Amino acid sequence: MQKILFVCLGNICRSPLAEAIFDDLINHKGLKDRFLTDSAGTGAYHVGEKPDPRSIEVARKNNVPIDSRARQFVPEDYEKFDYIVAMDQSNYRNIIHATGYKHDGLVMMRDYDDVKDSLEVPDPYYGGDQGFQEVFDILYRSNTNFLKFLTEKD
Ligand code: 4NP
Repeated sequence: MQKILFVCLGNICRSPLAEAIFDDLINHKGLKDRFLTDSAGTGAYHVGEKPDPRSIEVARKNNVPIDSRARQFVPEDYEKFDYIVAMDQSNYRNIIHATGYKHDGLVMMRDYDDVKDSLEVPDPYYGGDQGFQEVFDILYRSNTNFLKFLTEKD
């Protein structure tokens, strides 16, 4: 069982969508039993909230089920998860700041993207709906390759 945690700032836009897309990929491939997934935010502003309505809408449009409640990243997540997948460099730095060291499995989501126009999944919170489809496309590509990496390494 591989344990994967997706992390952004608020845990209402990017990381719930990343988790939902990864879950959808493993469900379709019959790999559900091999993974445990979750998502969290480095900030506490939206704890307890459902995903942003724009993330719910873009998931629905792309036929991906999404259902989560925001929670904050805690240092104990480092012990529980094999991979901690940060959406941007600020999340990555905040995770190291919160724990005091770099976990071996701390990676950036776009390390796995084959379109290399940026290292980051852009924060869509203050933008329009188009930003959410762009985030969806980035997350879909990145998670497809991330899952390939995870299943081919053992
Ligand atoms: P997320 O987006 O990190 O992708 O969930 C954000 C959500 C909320 C805020 C910023 C980014 N905020 O400032 O409240």
